[in-house]
Amino acid sequence: MSLPLPPLLFVDDEKNARIQFPDMVAAMGFDDVSVVTADSAEQALKLLEQSEYFMVVTDVRLGGMSGYDLLRRARARWPDTPVLVITAYATPRQAVDAIKAGAYDYLAKPYEPEALRQAITRSAEVYRLRKENASLRARSGEVYRLEHIIGESPKMVALRQLIQTVAPTNATVLILGESGTGKELVAGALHSLSHRRERNYIRINCAAIPEALLESELFGHEKGSFTGALRQKSGRVEEADCGTIFLDEIGDMSRPLQAKLLRFLEDGTFTRVGSNQELRVDVRLIAATNRDIIRAIRENHFREDLFHRLNVVQFMPPPLRERGQDVLLLAEHFLRHFGASMSKSIRGISAPAQQKLLAHHWPGNVRELRNAIERAVILETRDKLQAESLPDSQVENRLRKSGSPPVGEASLDDHLAGYERDLIVNLLEREGFDLNRTAEALRISRTALRTRMQRLDIDADDPTARNAAGSATRKRSVA
Ligand SMILES: Nc1ncnc2c1ncn2[C@@H]1O[C@H](COP(=O)(O)OP(=O)(O)OP(=O)(O)O)[C@@H](O)[C@H]1O
Ligand SMILES: [Mg+2]
Repeated sequence: MSLPLPPLLFVDDEKNARIQFPDMVAAMGFDDVSVVTADSAEQALKLLEQSEYFMVVTDVRLGGMSGYDLLRRARARWPDTPVLVITAYATPRQAVDAIKAGAYDYLAKPYEPEALRQAITRSAEVYRLRKENASLRARSGEVYRLEHIIGESPKMVALRQLIQTVAPTNATVLILGESGTGKELVAGALHSLSHRRERNYIRINCAAIPEALLESELFGHEKGSFTGALRQKSGRVEEADCGTIFLDEIGDMSRPLQAKLLRFLEDGTFTRVGSNQELRVDVRLIAATNRDIIRAIRENHFREDLFHRLNVVQFMPPPLRERGQDVLLLAEHFLRHFGASMSKSIRGISAPAQQKLLAHHWPGNVRELRNAIERAVILETRDKLQAESLPDSQVENRLRKSGSPPVGEASLDDHLAGYERDLIVNLLEREGFDLNRTAEALRISRTALRTRMQRLDIDADDPTARNAAGSATRKRSVA
């Protein structure tokens, strides 16, 4: 069975034409093609905004905006929708112009119905192929979907709504928020719901690529432009042409490159490293960072003008602790996910485990919850998730309530050391006992972290001592 076709949009300011065209299409034997008509380019754009059409057929001479203007705008916004241009005043020059402007085809009145029939058949085929490819990709798990963003708290409902509103536009988007709140999911959903979804979605993690290489990665380079540039290389922005580019961890981009990105955002132009030739692409940009961007601007690490240019629409997925019962919804989701992949059927979460999940502060947000549930599924032996299978978060809860020894029973230094120890142990847990990541989170070197751990008596090599002496002096092995 073939996929159902959305309608064809026919644009003509003459009433007779609008009456005859649908009949003519029906007479050609297309029983799956329905026609919607518009009497102006303006109306056509509105209709295109509201729903999907598999092709547009437009007259050139229209009341207000011309068929060419409609063609140009439709090509920019809906690059996959073929536009067929029909005119009574055909000159070869016009035909060339129309094709150059991106028309799928060009018919001069009076045209052969056969030419129209062929154009419709081809457009319908292209539409179906595109959809099939998209659904294949969706099945292989590549496509991000709105439903993958789980949460019924008011903030998450509003977030999904905003994604739906903003996705079809070309607006630049800035996603801010703590680590693990789902920024990548938001970026992916914005692309998947946009008119660019059939085109490339290129993701670059600005923090993962050495500063010296990031510019060439983004904009490409000419052969010999720097040591190691053995051949010419096109930039990822070129790969993203007509699609979306997601710059993750943009807060880590160097200031000189920020200036180049700003220029690129202004008009889509850029030059490859080592070249003077200006190139241009049509790319939608989404950026994200978990850094405090305002602080970065104040400290001169981030350009304020770039911030404003990126911040056309801002998304801020809320921290998990502000999502109320979503914690349980997400926990159940991950429980099903990991249960299935480990072939363990755990049917729900016990009441004490639910309480424990709701009481936790979740500094690592959804990522931390995901890890906690994965671990719990491994450990669980009963058919419901028990509180004991969840990581112990006493240290963290104490931190929040700053419940270290009551004031008066210890010196300020003791309090501070207690706080520091709790903080480090807590972060070590969050980062899976990875010293590098923990040091990074604390913005100190790995050596400095080791020194502090020694001073604070946090044992890096004794896994057995885990629950030995209460939460504050808890010991764990460290990767
Ligand atoms: N609302 C949600 N529903 C389902 N899964 C989610 C949700 N939010 C986040 N996740 C999952 O949590 C993990 C972390 O999300 P993601 O990578 O998008 O976070 P991030 O905000 O980009 O974090 P970072 O700043 O550390 O890069 C991923 O596995 C993601 O699939
Ligand atoms: Mg991320």
